[in-house]
Amino acid sequence: MTADDYICHMQKVGILGGGQLGRMLLQAAANYPVETFVLENDAECPSAHLCDHFTKGDIRSFDAVYQFGKGLDAITIEIENVNTEALEKLESEGVKVFPKPSVLKTIRNKILQKKYYADNSIPSPAYIVTDNLAALQQQSDFLPAVHKIGEGGYDGKGVQVLRKPEDITKGFDAPSVLEKMVDIDKEIAQMVAVSSTGEIALYPPVEMLFDHSLNLLDFQLCPATINEKTLWKVEAIAVQVVKNFKSPGIFAIELFVDRSGAVLVNETAPRVHNSGHHTIEAHFSSQFDMLWRIILGFPLGNTDAILPSVMVNVIGAEGYSGKVKYEGLEEVLGIDNAFVHLYGKKATKPGRKMGHVTVLSKEKQELIHQANKIKSLLSVQSTSD
Ligand SMILES: Nc1ncnc2c1ncn2[C@@H]1O[C@H](COP(=O)(O)OP(=O)(O)O)[C@@H](O)[C@H]1O
Ligand SMILES: [Mg+2]
Repeated sequence: MTADDYICHMQKVGILGGGQLGRMLLQAAANYPVETFVLENDAECPSAHLCDHFTKGDIRSFDAVYQFGKGLDAITIEIENVNTEALEKLESEGVKVFPKPSVLKTIRNKILQKKYYADNSIPSPAYIVTDNLAALQQQSDFLPAVHKIGEGGYDGKGVQVLRKPEDITKGFDAPSVLEKMVDIDKEIAQMVAVSSTGEIALYPPVEMLFDHSLNLLDFQLCPATINEKTLWKVEAIAVQVVKNFKSPGIFAIELFVDRSGAVLVNETAPRVHNSGHHTIEAHFSSQFDMLWRIILGFPLGNTDAILPSVMVNVIGAEGYSGKVKYEGLEEVLGIDNAFVHLYGKKATKPGRKMGHVTVLSKEKQELIHQANKIKSLLSVQSTSD
């Protein structure tokens, strides 16, 4: 193919889900010869007005996904909870699917995901499967542990920390993973790009700092402050994770570094991810730019950082629900090295991801300083009317 071939053929590409990840993917699409389609139930979702064609429909419905995908060149996701049977049928009819439906099936069920790590000798915390609460009650010897629901959990919903036998009642009465509590030193995320020809590109890992009361990411530093040996372990494990999926796409691998220096995979997302938001401004090719390169068959981009960065999530404040009002936005917009992203969600609620801010600087101290400043200045509230 020559460059002219690329320009002549506008590929039709669909995205399942219309949240902020889809919105940022669509922003990056504007640089490429691609006609975009979004399927989502909420016609006011963050992606609805940025795509070329919006279809209102349920991403979990076979018919909705199949009808949406028929006739497209390629389809991708911004959330795992989609109808994989429809994607398999579309794949068999020649629609390219990023990531492969087989990977989605493995990943979106935490029991199958843990089995995948075990089967492929990928280090991950020790675990057992519990089918229901009665089965969990038999496992008090396994505590302290973290109980994770097999399907449907996200952003900390679907995860319960069980320290002592009395906590067991907080567990899930559904097929779940009971995972040994890790003595965490650092939480790291490694973004990986895999092209259709199997080429792999790694972004520098990021270090995640959590708000443990909300179980949500507080802010995130790039690059992670880890020693070289830990970096090698993280990279080797990440490659091992994506290699065995045998699927093109973008992958976000969350890992723990424990206090003995061991590196363990926590979980993987087979899509663009919150832990790659900083790549929009801080890296030569962002995770969104990279996914378009992968889907459209262009060469992979450069994952190097232009500058170190910090990313702060902008999250709905406690006690406020409804029509959104941003407090402190002007002050944050006045910070020289900050990039503000608001996702266009009409309503806020406590803990909802409403936006993020990325700060670039050569100095780590400056990054931390600005992150704390942004956290204290900016708050998502609601109007009383
Ligand atoms: N085995 C574990 N040991 C200690 N902490 C854990 C363990 N598993 C999860 N956590 C904590 O809970 C958080 C959420 O768990 P995770 O499996 O990533 O669920 P989610 O799908 O909600 O992101 C992690 O980021 C980590 O802080
Ligand atoms: Mg997680």
